[in-house]
Amino acid sequence: MEFWHQKWSTNQIGFHRPVVNDLLAKHWSTIEANQAANVLIPLCGKTVDMHWLLEKGHAITGIELVEEAVRQFFDEADITPAIQKEGVHQRFTAGDLTVLQGDLFTLPANAASCEAWYDRAAMVALPSTMRQAYVDQIHSLCAPGSVGLMITFAYPQEQMQGPPFSLPDQEVLALFADRFEVTLLETLQLEDEKQRGISELTSSVFQLVRI
Ligand SMILES: C[S@@+](CC[C@H](N)C(=O)[O-])C[C@H]1O[C@@H](n2cnc3c(N)ncnc32)[C@H](O)[C@@H]1O
Repeated sequence: MEFWHQKWSTNQIGFHRPVVNDLLAKHWSTIEANQAANVLIPLCGKTVDMHWLLEKGHAITGIELVEEAVRQFFDEADITPAIQKEGVHQRFTAGDLTVLQGDLFTLPANAASCEAWYDRAAMVALPSTMRQAYVDQIHSLCAPGSVGLMITFAYPQEQMQGPPFSLPDQEVLALFADRFEVTLLETLQLEDEKQRGISELTSSVFQLVRI
């Protein structure tokens, strides 16, 4: 966790993109989230994808460990949130936009009730030992029938130190398949990364339905 605090305090946030993720824009309609769905965005950073989903009519519940990231998110959008303490977490709210600041893994199940979720650079940001707990949290924060869109990376793990960590498609199936319907929507070959000494890097996009 210190790792992420340090990343934000030294502005080493190469994962942050100033534009909406093109795979979100391409596939969000495919998963057919109800327009009234509250969308959970675990490990949200300050992603502008939250604004895009808000514009689609959704309510948003982001979860982010580092307070500096949450403050930058609201400051950069010129929004002043109301801030409430909730145990070891803080709830930042402005209209339909909520960001819960604190550790995803200590968030109680009643902290959010979502009917959809979006994972970009979230599960792949976690080492493999934390993945089962991540799936358990998604399961407890999302109601039955919730739909999810998840983007992953896979590459020979020995060729690069994460994050992002390699999350092969078979592992997604192994971790989710007993409590979620899993559909692979697309796999892309990322050629540019070969210049960084990675022999093969793919990105997969999954549709998930919580049973
Ligand atoms: C790779 S970044 C991705 C951010 C965002 N999803 C995006 O696409 O820009 C991962 C984020 O997760 C946050 N994070 C890491 N561990 C966390 C935890 N246990 N609970 C909540 N947030 C966490 C980090 O501070 C960081 O902002």
